[in-house]
Amino acid sequence: MPFYHRMGSIPKKRHIQHHKAEGGIYQEHLIGNYGFTGPASLLYHIHPPTAVLRTEHLRNWVYEEEDHPMLRMRHVMTAQLHAAGSPVMDRVPIFFNNDCAICYSKPNVNDDYWYRNGSQDEYVFVAKGEGVLETQMGDLSFGQDDQLIIPQGIIHRWQFSTKENELLILESNSYLRTPKRYRNEYGQLIEGAPFSERDIHGPEKLNPRDEKGEFELRVRQRGGMNRFILDHHPIDVVGWDGIFFPWKFNFNDFEPITGTIHQPPPIHQILQGDAFVVCNFAPRPFDFHPEAIPAPYYHSNVMSDEVLYYFSADFMSRKGIEWGSMTLHPDGIPHGPHPGRYEGSIGKEYTDEKAVMIDTFRPLKVAKPALDIEDKHYWKSWVE
Ligand SMILES: [Fe+2]
Repeated sequence: MPFYHRMGSIPKKRHIQHHKAEGGIYQEHLIGNYGFTGPASLLYHIHPPTAVLRTEHLRNWVYEEEDHPMLRMRHVMTAQLHAAGSPVMDRVPIFFNNDCAICYSKPNVNDDYWYRNGSQDEYVFVAKGEGVLETQMGDLSFGQDDQLIIPQGIIHRWQFSTKENELLILESNSYLRTPKRYRNEYGQLIEGAPFSERDIHGPEKLNPRDEKGEFELRVRQRGGMNRFILDHHPIDVVGWDGIFFPWKFNFNDFEPITGTIHQPPPIHQILQGDAFVVCNFAPRPFDFHPEAIPAPYYHSNVMSDEVLYYFSADFMSRKGIEWGSMTLHPDGIPHGPHPGRYEGSIGKEYTDEKAVMIDTFRPLKVAKPALDIEDKHYWKSWVE
C-alpha cells in the first residue's frame, strides 16, 4: 500500500542494532518487490528467517485449459461447487491467463501449515465467512464482503471461525495496487477517489512466537507447491514498518460515483495490476437525467475480457444469473443488457446489485473444473 504503517518494536533507525531484553539482537529482514526499489517493509524477527531444515516438492501447480476452447459468453455457477478442504490447496481455478488466475474456494478446514505465495499477489473477496488471517506482519480479522490483498512473499494462514465460507481468489502475477489515477503525485488517494486511506485496514495485532521445533510452510513457486520445514515458528516478527503489508478494504465502504447519465465501468475500479483491473459494483442511485437509460449501452471491449462475479440476487442488466454466478464476456464480442433489461431500466431510481468485476487486457482461458459447473446455454440467452 502506498502509505506508511508501523507495528510493534522497531529500532529508531533502520539497519542498526535492535536488542532483545534477554540478550542478543533481532534479525532485520527487508521484504519488498522490484529489487530494493519497489514497495518494501523492514521486519524484525526473533529467529533468522533463513533456517530451513528440509524442502520437498509436493505437487505441480498448473491450471489446465478446456480441450476445445470456444469464443463465446460463459457462465459458471459457483453455487454448484461442493465445500472442500483448504483455501490454499483446494481452490478451484475458473479462468486464467499468463497475468492472473480467478479461482473459487469453499474451505471447510483450517490449515495447520503456513503458506507463502512466492509467485503472486492474492486478492481475496470474502463472499461468506469470518475469521482471522494470521500473517507474519500481524493478525488481520475478516468478515463478509471484506477484500483482502496479500502481497506475494508474506507468510500467512487462514483461520475461519465459521463453517460456511466462500472466497473469490484472484492470483496476480503483478503487484496489486490502487489505481494510479486515484493517487496524487505524493501517493495519497485524491478526494475524487471512491475510497480513502481511512477505508483501508492493515493488520491489527502482532502475535510473535518464540518457538523452536519443526514448522511446515507451503511455498507456491515456479509452477509447483513445495513444503519447507523451518526450525522455528514462522510468526516471530516483533515489529515492522514500511508500505508492503497485507490489507483489507470492505466492499460496503466503496463510495459509488453516479451521474445524470450512465457512468462507464472504470468509475467502479478499486485495484489495478499490470494487465487487469478490479472493480466493485455497489448498490447506488441510478442516473437522474429525465431521459436517462440506467442500464449500460451495448459495448464491444476489444482487447479486454470481462469477468463479473455476482453476489446479489439481481443484476440490473442480466437475467438468469444467481447468487455466486460468474460470467465471462470475452474479447470484442458485443455484449450488454438481456432482452427487456435495457428499456426496463428506464425510470428505475436505485439498484441493489453487488458484483466484483475483473477485466483482463489479455484473453482468459476457461479452466477444466469450470466446465462441471457451467450453464452451457448462457451464450444464447440474448435471443428472444
Ligand atoms: Fe461489459
